[in-house]
Amino acid sequence: MAAPVRLLVATRNAHKLVEIRAILDWPGVALVGADEVPGLPEVEEDALTFEGNALKKARTLRDASGLWTLADDSGLEVDVLGGAPGVFSARYAGEPTDHAANNHKLLAALDGAENRSARFRCVLALAAPDGREWTISGSVEGRIALSPSGTEGFGYDPLFIPDGYDQPFAAMPAQVKNSISHRARALAAAAAAWRDLIND
Ligand code: IMP
Repeated sequence: MAAPVRLLVATRNAHKLVEIRAILDWPGVALVGADEVPGLPEVEEDALTFEGNALKKARTLRDASGLWTLADDSGLEVDVLGGAPGVFSARYAGEPTDHAANNHKLLAALDGAENRSARFRCVLALAAPDGREWTISGSVEGRIALSPSGTEGFGYDPLFIPDGYDQPFAAMPAQVKNSISHRARALAAAAAAWRDLIND
């Protein structure tokens, strides 16, 4: 049997890597975390779109490693805030990333707001060793809770209640989040579109 193709996951976010490992199960593909490959550069996420940042991360680490590379850029879009924090989700309350401060700032921004509708969006980028590149996206609609609850997940999970549920992601078992999340939906689309590309 042929050795599995190594697919580098271009993230240093341990939570994202755990979720991607839990969801992505492509025959013939072995996932490699960015921390397992020495000497990879840090990537400044300075694009103004999820697509731009995902492509930049995938391309930069593909160029540095020579491996097939998958990147995830994702964030929360709140309608009454005009789509903020959007691409700035990780650093909404400043740098370095502080999830509790981000959630606190979001609740303050929505103080008294009746419309609390929001969505998580995830764009995946795949970069091939030969220079080809693709993107694919997934999203999940929901609303922002009045106060945080739950201990699972990361980021805005204590505040984001997906449509059809009455609890935020952080109060659900990981398997439930991983069956309906923006990341799960993007990875499902990626499985259909990309698995054969990598194995060809
Ligand atoms: P990125 O590393 O630039 O893609 O930033 C992603 C940021 O968006 C995270 O730091 C979180 O603030 C937020 N985010 C993305 N996906 C999720 C999720 O699944 N749950 C909670 N927050 C998320």
